[in-house]
Amino acid sequence: MIGNINHIAIAVRDVEAASQQWQDTLGASCSAPQDLPEHGVRIVFVTQPNAKVELMEPLGEGSPIAGFLERNPDGGMHHICYEVEDILAARDQLVASGARVLGNGEPRIGAHGNPVLFLHPKDFCGTLIELEEVTG
Ligand code: CO
Repeated sequence: MIGNINHIAIAVRDVEAASQQWQDTLGASCSAPQDLPEHGVRIVFVTQPNAKVELMEPLGEGSPIAGFLERNPDGGMHHICYEVEDILAARDQLVASGARVLGNGEPRIGAHGNPVLFLHPKDFCGTLIELEEVTG
């Protein structure tokens, strides 16, 4: 059902410092930081030929990654995003096999403008999984 890994998201305290670290020590190419206030994060994309890493810093009050950083003060891997062709078909198949979809179970528009869903980390070895519908 799942396709390519679209991105791996890493929660960080300071996205500028993290971006500098990725560039200086790993030789990565990083985008400029972007504020996504509707998602409560400020992000930098680290682009590789096969996938992206997204460095995310909390933005504003009630950021969805604030609690994660309290539990993981050094930062850490927050989620893996897999691409799917049909997010509703993927959801229905997952729910039928007993996986839990977070929220109300309806896709919402994610950081890249595509429909996304998140799956409960307890169903996947403690790993939060994002599904993103990518067409074409
Ligand atoms: Co994501």
